[in-house]
Amino acid sequence: MKRKKVSIIGAGHVGASTAQLLAHSGICDIVLFDIVEGMPQGKALDLAEAAPLYNSAASVIGTNDYAATAGSDVIVVTAGIARKPGMSRDDLLKTNAQIVGAVGKGIAGGSPNAVIIAVTNPMDVMAHLLYKTTDYPHHRVMGMGGVLDAARFSTFIAMELNVAAGAVDALILGGHGDQMVPLPRFTTVNGVPVTELIASDRIDALVERTRNGGAEIVALLKTGSAYYAPAAATFQMIKAILLDEKRPLPAACYLSGQYGVDGLYVGVPTILGAGGVEKIVELKLNEKEQEAFNRSAAAVAGLVKILDI
Ligand code: APR
Repeated sequence: MKRKKVSIIGAGHVGASTAQLLAHSGICDIVLFDIVEGMPQGKALDLAEAAPLYNSAASVIGTNDYAATAGSDVIVVTAGIARKPGMSRDDLLKTNAQIVGAVGKGIAGGSPNAVIIAVTNPMDVMAHLLYKTTDYPHHRVMGMGGVLDAARFSTFIAMELNVAAGAVDALILGGHGDQMVPLPRFTTVNGVPVTELIASDRIDALVERTRNGGAEIVALLKTGSAYYAPAAATFQMIKAILLDEKRPLPAACYLSGQYGVDGLYVGVPTILGAGGVEKIVELKLNEKEQEAFNRSAAAVAGLVKILDI
């Protein structure tokens, strides 16, 4: 069996942390790409030297040359600038669109069968841009946002109830921005709906904290944005694809009529497997949830329009 290969474009905080989780798991070989000379090579060597300690067979190489990414099964795009205090994800739009547009051209030809995962913010728009610039079928281009947002919601619920975070199964739809749509009705603790366990005003407060989850960390760090949880969320998606897990996970997907949206990347529940987005799960939203979803999708559409893609 051919070994799986994952390329990570952008060897910064999120990229390198994702590479570390992959190297530790041993499920694939890893290529770290960056435009900065020496940096991806140095981080790759450091990661490779940790592999014996994990008893991992993964190889890790660093490069400034897209040719080294050829034949990838999954390509993760984290290249771009991260937020600083006071910036929204949307403030990154034009700079990151330039970077991600160049990345799309760089990766497409060498890995015609890859699944692409956009991480760079504003993520839903960057997924759309990668779809346009690579010309891949849309089920093989997706964005990481919902898994992270749901993990944040799960964490806050677990803190509130003083239970293990792993027992919380949260669901968040919509764009990976301030208008994301946490869904308490579909969020459970060991199968029990969270609405049975926490008073509604407290749920509202946890929802609000989740919406601002990224900004809360940016304000604390002052020099960059979150990367441990984003990397863990990206790793979970890569694993679902490489191991063909058919795992139910939210992802930013190209919608063609689902949830009343057409021709736009927005976060929805999916089944992820070797084919990428193998299925989009259509939940029956109530009126309030659908309105919130529409507002979130409209915010993403507004950014796509600015880029004219
Ligand atoms: N090609 C490849 N890499 C690039 C390019 C490019 N054209 N331009 C910039 N990069 C690299 C930078 O050199 C840097 O190493 O992208 C990396 C980004 O890393 P960080 O600055 O550490 O940012 P990080 O915290 O990893 O966040 C990256 O993910 O979560 C999102 O909002 C976040 O958009 C940001 C992205």
